[in-house]
Amino acid sequence: MSKPIWVLNGPNLNLLGVREPHIYGHDSLDDVRALCAARAKRHGMEIEFRQTNHEGELIDWVQAARLEACALVINPAGYGHTSVALLDALKSLDIPVVECHLSNPAAREGFRRASYVSPAATGVVCGFGSTSYELAIEAACALAARTAKSATARPPKDA
Ligand code: DQA
Repeated sequence: MSKPIWVLNGPNLNLLGVREPHIYGHDSLDDVRALCAARAKRHGMEIEFRQTNHEGELIDWVQAARLEACALVINPAGYGHTSVALLDALKSLDIPVVECHLSNPAAREGFRRASYVSPAATGVVCGFGSTSYELAIEAACALAARTAKSATARPPKDA
């Protein structure tokens, strides 16, 4: 079995379904977790799904994903707009990174248009509510499969 896709969620996403539902929708974070797991399962993949309100913990998890994940889906929430440290951690990864947002930050307040995550992301999915996560999992599965294929195509280092 290959490594799981890690799905990391930043601050306030524990309140999903309750917090500004007109923006973020009515699904809870547990609903989103179930959608992600089901979508990954279609591709024979598993997920590791986590949420934290703490920047340092998010960074610890990004660092751990370096060795333990085949791809990373991350909704950095507010830290996406503020955290250089998160960008630095993401830059240490050589697995595919999919940035994911429920809302479309580009269509909201000006300060949400800047992302410290996008420069380190393989791609971004946003604006589709919890469907953003399902699409992000689709992308992560495709990217992970491609990465695995090119790794097996490479000759061993000492050949
Ligand atoms: C968010 C968008 C961010 O601007 C915001 O701070 C969030 C959630 C989203 O999923 O739409 O907390 O990442």
